[in-house]
This record gives sequence, structure tokens and C-alpha cells, in this order.
Amino acid sequence: MVDLRELIQRVSQAKDKLELQNLKSQFLGKNSQINKEFKKLGSLNENDRKIRASSLNNEKQKITEAIDNKFQELENSEINQKLQKNKVDVTLPARERPNGKIHPVSQVIDEISSIFSEIGFSVAEGPDVESEYNNFTALNTPEDHPARDMHDTFYLDKNKKILLRTHTSPVQIRTMLSGKAPFKIIVPGRTYRCDSDQTHAPMFHQLEGLHIDKDITMGHLKGCLDYFVKEFFEVKKIRMRFRPSHFPFTEPSAEVDIGYRLENGRIIVGEGDKWLEILGCGMVHPNVLKNAKVDPKKFQGYAFGMGIDRLAMLKYGINDLRSFFEADFRWLNYFGFDPLDVPTNYRGLSR
Ligand code: DAH
Repeated sequence: MVDLRELIQRVSQAKDKLELQNLKSQFLGKNSQINKEFKKLGSLNENDRKIRASSLNNEKQKITEAIDNKFQELENSEINQKLQKNKVDVTLPARERPNGKIHPVSQVIDEISSIFSEIGFSVAEGPDVESEYNNFTALNTPEDHPARDMHDTFYLDKNKKILLRTHTSPVQIRTMLSGKAPFKIIVPGRTYRCDSDQTHAPMFHQLEGLHIDKDITMGHLKGCLDYFVKEFFEVKKIRMRFRPSHFPFTEPSAEVDIGYRLENGRIIVGEGDKWLEILGCGMVHPNVLKNAKVDPKKFQGYAFGMGIDRLAMLKYGINDLRSFFEADFRWLNYFGFDPLDVPTNYRGLSR
């Protein structure tokens, strides 16, 4: 016979989970008393067997319940002990802030994305390795255009079919081919040209903008850029002028200058009698729309492209473009940004 009371008492006295585990196999396992009793059932007549089986099942259930309850009790007291030991001392000084810094180019990309997202632009991206078609032909750039010259473009194959993109403009084509008008995107990204001096690096960053819809005019372009420049340089007034220019992918085309003055050798953006070119823009050429499967009779719009590194240099007073890409930790520590300060329009873009 199984002495149920004794078993349950022993279970309730178990000190830890290991002891409980041992009791469990002792009381319910293969060699347990109760198991032996179950085996004896076969020798009983049907009636007695039913009665005995039911009382054995009952006992087994009670032992199982006692073990389960005890397990829960031990588990709870373990957790409570842990909580007691791991108390948090709220008077301790805060942990040190992380050491890493955000590179000024990344910071400026985040700032620009925040500014344009406020007026409904989304961010698109494209690959650095591009086809000659997307980079030039689809953008209405003639075969003999100087930009196609080996001296300006890094070609990756003998046939000059694959290259490192020389601007972010091919993403205009990619975006329009993969969706339906209207489009309202900005495209930040790396671009490449054979060039290197204090203000040119073979790899640099551009930001493209494209807004295609019904009835878009140059007035929208002007309003958009006026808003952007004021937000970016965090000034209320800005002098800005559109100078007629030429790009194969826009008609008409313009370059935009902003006014500045020098104060103790530093560039102060906004007012003054000097002009600084910051971007190229225009109304997207109908041929570009056709190449990108957009009907120029129904849709039109503007595009612009600017150098991100240049904007970062201007805003944060950095003189040499090459220092951006030297990965000098002291430089990054000085010009870099706190990773926890994500730029947003409403909270402030920069320090
Ligand atoms: N892709 C031009 C460049 O790299 C910049 C540019 C000019 C982009 C006019 C445009 C544009 O989208 O409309 O110099």
C-alpha cells in the first residue's frame, strides 16, 4: 500500500528542485510503489479492478499535484531571492555615454531626410555600380557629352557598359520604372568621379530630388528649395538666386546660389554680397520621362541634385573635403555627432 499522507508530507518538505526531482522519480517513476500497485491490477477480478484502479489514479493525481505545487513554490522563492540580491542602487552615477560618433556626412543625410520628409518626400536608394544606360542614356545625355569621358567616369568594363555612378540621377530612372506616377523622392548616396584635390574626392556624396505629378511648375521647385535651404542652415531669411544653366536631363535648367558673407574667415550663410553655388536643378526633360515610361503629356515635374559633403563643410565649418574620408578618430571626435541625438525638424537639427 502507498502511504499517501507520508509521501505528500515528504514532498512538502523538499528543500530544492533537485530533491523534488528525486522524490518525483521515487514516488511516480518505474520502480515506485504506486507503479507496482498498478501492475497488480491484472490479477484482480473486473469489479475490484475498477474500484482499485480508480483509487490508485486518484492517489497518483494527488501526488502529482503536490509535486507541481511544490515546484511552483520553490520557483517563486528562487525568483524572490534573486530579486532581493539584485537590488538596483538608484543613487549610483549613470553609465558613461557611448564613445562612438556619427560622421558629419551621415548627420547631414539624416538632417536633410528629416527636412524633406516634412513636406512629403520619401527616401529612395540605388546601387553604386550602375549601367551606362541608367547613368547617361536614359537621362538624355548625348554620346559625345564630356561627362562620359574616361577622364571623368570610372568604367568597370572594356565596353563601357558598367560604371560607378557619376551622380545620383540614375535613381530617378530606377524609381520611375519601378512604380507609377506621382513620384516624390529624395535619394542620398555615394557617387564617383576621377577627381581629387582639396574640394574634390573620387568618392563623394550627392542628394537627388525628384517630384513628378500633374501641374508641377518651377514655382514649386523654388518654394521647395527655399524651404529646404532655410531649414538646413537654420536661418529665417536666405538670399537665393536661380541662374540659367544646362543639364541634359532638365529643360529649363538652373543652378542655385545662396548669399553669404565672410566673418573672421568663416562663411556666414544667408545674407551678404557674395554668392555660393549649392545645387543644380530644373524641370525634368520630356525625353527622360519617356525613357522612364512616364507620359510627359500627363505628368511633369522638377528634379535637383546637390553635393552633400559640400553642404556639410559649409554648415559645420570643415575646410578640407579629404578629411571626411581619412577615418582619423581625433577628427571624428571633434566634428562627429552624438549617436543619441537623432536630428528632427521639431527638436532641432543640429547641436
Ligand atoms: N546630376 C547633376 C550633377 O551631378 C546634378 C543635377 C542637376 C541633378 C540638375 C538634377 C538636376 O536632378 O535636375 O552634376
